[in-house]
Amino acid sequence: MQHSLVSVIDFGGQYSQLIVRRIRELGVYSEMVPWMHAADHIREKNPIAIILSGGPRSVREENAPDFDFALAEGKPLLGICYGMQLMAHRLGGRVERASDREYGRQSLSTRESDALVGVMHDPQIWMSHGDRIEDIPADYAVTAQTATCPVAAMENAGAKRFGVQFHPEVSHTPDGKALLDAFLNQIDGLSRDWTAGQFIEETVESIRAQVGTERVLCAVSGGVDSSVAAALLTKALGDQVTCVFVDHGLLRKDEAEEVVHMFTETFHPHLVVIRAADQFFGKLEGVTDPETKRKIVGAEFVRCFEAHSDEFSDCQWLAQGTLYPDVIESGSSTASTIKTHHNVGGLPDWMKLKVIEPLRWLFKDEVRAVGRALGLPEHVVDREPFPGPGLAVRVLGEVTRERVRMTQEADAIFRHELRVQGHKPGIWQSYAALLDVRSVGVMGDERTYEQPIVLRAVTSEDAMTAEAAALPFEFLQHVALRIVNEVDGVNRVVYDLTGKPPGTIEWE
Ligand code: XMP
Repeated sequence: MQHSLVSVIDFGGQYSQLIVRRIRELGVYSEMVPWMHAADHIREKNPIAIILSGGPRSVREENAPDFDFALAEGKPLLGICYGMQLMAHRLGGRVERASDREYGRQSLSTRESDALVGVMHDPQIWMSHGDRIEDIPADYAVTAQTATCPVAAMENAGAKRFGVQFHPEVSHTPDGKALLDAFLNQIDGLSRDWTAGQFIEETVESIRAQVGTERVLCAVSGGVDSSVAAALLTKALGDQVTCVFVDHGLLRKDEAEEVVHMFTETFHPHLVVIRAADQFFGKLEGVTDPETKRKIVGAEFVRCFEAHSDEFSDCQWLAQGTLYPDVIESGSSTASTIKTHHNVGGLPDWMKLKVIEPLRWLFKDEVRAVGRALGLPEHVVDREPFPGPGLAVRVLGEVTRERVRMTQEADAIFRHELRVQGHKPGIWQSYAALLDVRSVGVMGDERTYEQPIVLRAVTSEDAMTAEAAALPFEFLQHVALRIVNEVDGVNRVVYDLTGKPPGTIEWE
């Protein structure tokens, strides 16, 4: 089935991906394409409408990112920030350097159109620009202003061409999504058919066409992406799929059993479970350096696959959980999905498999929606990011079975309390780590000399930066008391207040 496509031409804007996400949230399929590939993209995919993104450059610079407006002839067009300035610059208006850079929250003082800006009830907007439009092109009208920006929005309603100087895609413009929705309403013949159910139906069909009667290997970790990919592949191909799960003993409490249970009970794929905890703990004995621990875990993964390769030597395909942001980042949104695989995801180099990436068109929140629609349990769909080396990087110092047990118990208490006391929403990651020091304490009449647990909970947008979550003191006290009382070997609990930077989310 052919979706209506709204293409976002990217001029290097900080928020360009967000525009795509908002359009998709409104039920319309959208893709992002770098401005230099816009012509090929538009000819090949014939989008029903076009959005020009913001960008860091000035349209007045030599070799500034450009757009051939003839390509958009007859198509509704929305220019955002740099995109609007380019419309003015190329279509007969004039753009000049503003006396002051305008950055941050502003308020629209006038709105003189029913079409786009007219649907915004809240006048708050988010601005970030150094140039401004001095003259608009002929046939256009100014439709909004701020105290400092005489052309905050413009339109040629007859031609369905609109420009906004502010960013409707960011949450600091509270009615920005309504504005984008109003733009979509301007598009004749648009179908709002981008839903999880439709995606599943179409992807199942395309997987069947791509793979035919061959077999697919799908490594599962318990994480959202690999679980959703496995569920989707199994729905499409049934027992042509072999799922492989390595239980390295470094997952959270009961997680390995939950993964096995979910796959065997819910999806009935051919599941190979490699029980390798002894092997991993053996190799990690006496090792305390964080990077060495990471390397050991990675290397043992490869050994596990090699040792069991007979069980999937009949596979020609390898499933990978690549998501749309990775595709955008590699600049290859139109590249072929088939390439030769080189040791991705811990698989041995000699396994030359064709790669299938069933999630390559999805953002993370869309993967979650697809997971829900496929019937994956909520705790899997909502699972926090979890490092590949697992608890090896949350048990500071030597990784032993006993120290992993202590970490798992404390972690389970912390996360359980977060959930039942309603503190989970808004938290990006939360965990307990075991420190590699001892401290003196007293329990009953006994002196103790045991190890501390550190609790870490952060808020974040993308893990690049993070803040310590502002959890109530009484809540932390309650968790600390439970951990010290219930987890043998722990006599002290601390809460990490450090943001990223200067800290990192993990302790190792
Ligand atoms: P940091 O600690 O660098 O972590 O702030 C950023 C994000 O990456 C995750 N992380 C890892 N993920 N292998 C992974 O697959 C690793 O070795 C690893 N180290 C950190 C971390 O949980 C956070 O989400």
